Amino acid sequence: MNRILGVLISGRGSNLQAIIDAIREGRLDARIAVVISNRADAYGLERARAAGIETLCISHRAFPTREAFEAALVAELRAREVGLVCLAGFMRVLGPTFVEAFPNAILNIHPSLLPSFPGLHAQRRAVEHGVKVSGVTVHLVDCQLDAGPIVVQRAVPVHDDDTAETLADRILAVEHQAYPEAIRIVLDRRWRIEGRRFLSEPQ
Ligand code: GAR
Repeated sequence: MNRILGVLISGRGSNLQAIIDAIREGRLDARIAVVISNRADAYGLERARAAGIETLCISHRAFPTREAFEAALVAELRAREVGLVCLAGFMRVLGPTFVEAFPNAILNIHPSLLPSFPGLHAQRRAVEHGVKVSGVTVHLVDCQLDAGPIVVQRAVPVHDDDTAETLADRILAVEHQAYPEAIRIVLDRRWRIEGRRFLSEPQ
């Protein structure tokens, strides 16, 4: 796997920013070739432009089928020789057209300890469920939602006075550490998949 990243976003892009900062500060040896958003108003596109990174907006609405949308994403990433795709708040479910184009080379970050609370509003559902610990998961992407072998997990305690918003803020701060770390593990270490398990050798 090469060190050329393609980052897919749909919104704020704070995890994108964390990756940009880690590269700039020399904590992550990689290059972001392109940031692609499916929404033209995603603030993350501004962050990318400010960092001098090429941006593209590819709206799923412009395509007749999910397969056609995904094929367009794949073509743009391949044209830039992207080796590792990082989903950073990309809120479209990706199917086989995309996932099979980058086998074991797509990462996603999710604001819970998967397999708890996949899907939307993970932080709110954690508070409502009354769990005492939630957290962050970075995992390789397969064709199921918020599934796939887990590369990094970090726990975040849930306090009695937490709201969805306060918990989300603390989880987000941990996400910003965990995502660059997971990318580093995938790029820098020798690793293998056994069943569902991502197993890496120490550096
Ligand atoms: C992050 O909390 C990320 O974990 C979540 O969206 C947010 C994006 O924030 N992703 C998912 O819920 C994926 N299922 P950002 O745009 O500021 O990086």
